Amino acid sequence: MQYQTTEAQEKLRQEVREFAESEIKPLAFQWDQENEFPREIVKALGERGWMGAPFSEEEGGSGLGMIGYSIIVEELSRVDAGVGVIVSAHTSLGSWPIAHFGTPEQKEKYLRPLAQGKHIGAFGLTEEHAGSDASGTETTAVLEGDHYILNGGKIFITNGSQADTYVIFAVTSPEKGNHGISAFIVEAGWEGFTYPTVYNKLGIRSSATAELSFKNVKVPKENLLGKEGEGFKIAMMTLDGGRVGIGSQALGIAQGAYEAALNYSRDRVQFGEPIAVNQGVSFKLADMATEIDSARLLIYRAAEMKDSGQRYTKEAAMAKMFASDVAVKVADEALQIHGGNGFIKGFDVERFYRDAKITQIYEGTNEILRVVIGSQIIGKRKKRAKAVAEVQGKAGSQTGPRKNILFEGSPEEQVDQLVAALKADGYAFDFAVDKDAPISEVERLVSAGQGIGSEENMKLIRDLAEVMGAAVSSSRPVAENLRYLPLDRYVGMSGQKFNGNLYVACGISGAGQHLKGIKQVTTIVAINNDPDAPIFLNADYGIVGDVNVILPLLTKALTTDEPRKEAPDFTKMKKSVPQDPKTRTGVYVCSGCAYEYDPSVGDPDSGIMPGLPFDQLPAGYQCPRCGDPKDGFIPAEQ
Ligand code: CAA
Repeated sequence: MQYQTTEAQEKLRQEVREFAESEIKPLAFQWDQENEFPREIVKALGERGWMGAPFSEEEGGSGLGMIGYSIIVEELSRVDAGVGVIVSAHTSLGSWPIAHFGTPEQKEKYLRPLAQGKHIGAFGLTEEHAGSDASGTETTAVLEGDHYILNGGKIFITNGSQADTYVIFAVTSPEKGNHGISAFIVEAGWEGFTYPTVYNKLGIRSSATAELSFKNVKVPKENLLGKEGEGFKIAMMTLDGGRVGIGSQALGIAQGAYEAALNYSRDRVQFGEPIAVNQGVSFKLADMATEIDSARLLIYRAAEMKDSGQRYTKEAAMAKMFASDVAVKVADEALQIHGGNGFIKGFDVERFYRDAKITQIYEGTNEILRVVIGSQIIGKRKKRAKAVAEVQGKAGSQTGPRKNILFEGSPEEQVDQLVAALKADGYAFDFAVDKDAPISEVERLVSAGQGIGSEENMKLIRDLAEVMGAAVSSSRPVAENLRYLPLDRYVGMSGQKFNGNLYVACGISGAGQHLKGIKQVTTIVAINNDPDAPIFLNADYGIVGDVNVILPLLTKALTTDEPRKEAPDFTKMKKSVPQDPKTRTGVYVCSGCAYEYDPSVGDPDSGIMPGLPFDQLPAGYQCPRCGDPKDGFIPAEQ
């Protein structure tokens, strides 16, 4: 292993640094504030050969090796970590799998323009239920003639919405577990491939991160990357390299923050001296410099091992884990050295502080990386049954047991059936409430998702809310991105939790974070034109149809000439759990994940022996699957 970079590598560092200082630094604050993707800069990086650093010249790259690549990502991140991750995700994740597993035709068609920086690459592995557990992929690819038909979605995809070429993982043989996952090259713009959400993030805001959606996307057979069933291995090997890239990004953030703190502490005079001369500050700087150097050595070791063809899984995980912890710590200390100034927007250190955090999370959380390192040292842990996934998969619901009744017939017939079902459940529609009343105080909500379309369609939501005796709310993107409603009206894990009786989801697809906000609702109604939208699996009643058609019909069906009464006091209604044919005395169901506590079985994993009735469980008892508290359980037989 080399302990010093070569003269050529330091020359490269100098060139990238000069470019970053002159072309990126002056605009970094603006891109951060405005969440702006710097397309022109990416083009300029491509022209300099820095978008294809580790690939050979024959492949269209610049043959700078992994250390050259690491230097580029570090130096860009030293000034703007968003630009750093654009290059890292493009190179390690979007291009490398094609370079390593691609056929000569795939390399010519896809790798060459990527390595030359003419195209941008991205990698789609993460899904709603497949984050750290990457093998939980649910996106499917079914071979039909000359094409695979791709259906599903990906979340948190770096360069998503900006890339030209995507490496996407999908299940081709569900019965084969991780050996049933395959990798595909997918082009932007193919029919059915859309970006429902572009995220608003804490940091790395000059990079784009998007949700990807695939609806019957036709992927030519020749775009299968590697062999069928090789996808999981391709993803894991790709991530090994990606972790060198993210380690380098973290290193750049740490270096930038450290230099900012060093300069500030030399300039800032207090008690008649620069603060740098105080041990309280100089010891911090000494620790920072040492940790940054340690991170750099770990990264270069992993980079060198990759270039020499050795297995470097453990070393890459160590490098990313250590460097990201250093980035967070150094950015924190650097901000501390800046005092109050560091807390004010405009100082680079404030941005470094926000940018650092993600490096501990993506491309393997640091907790997962400890699993990776541990399994490389002591061998793999025996697998636990994927109980939650199985139960959730069987129940098909993240909002607990639901009736899952989908009405059929013409739109009018479906609406009539819905109204009849709600009335049979005990809902009356003869009163109105303040449509902007606090969500925690109302019994019913009519909620808009992105499927509502243009802002003027919010009138359909308000009209329906009026006749339903409901207030209005929305999904997060409708409040946060479209801004149709104030932020305090979005329902979801990060927004308002709704614990009322009736929730009418209009044009809401049912992202996990949204569903977590409505778990305790008594009755969920879904209206959506996509029959595959997850919201239907989580609803009691569903109508597949266009909200522009269904909402006016439903409003009309509930409109009466009678003056509306004052709303009665809110009484929480019991969830109507689907009846099990056999009577199961004393069985309670978790409304979070449908786990059943059966006293005749107990809960041995939580130390509860068979025979203990539910009401005698300790007050602090939690669902062994989803962690919901004891009072989140409801009797199975009602
Ligand atoms: N190289 C080659 N093969 C590997 C491998 C590696 N590094 N790691 C695992 N494999 C193989 C194993 O040998 C095994 O093969 P067999 O089935 O033939 O025995 C197979 O893959 C399964 O391995 P595991 O049993 O270890 O797999 P697992 O299901 O237990 O998962 C895990 C292991 C390490 C937790 C993995 O799921 C993981 O890395 N999770 C984190 C996912 C991640 O990093 N996501 C990041 C998304 S991308 C991103 O964040 C990009 C961005 O925004 C910039």
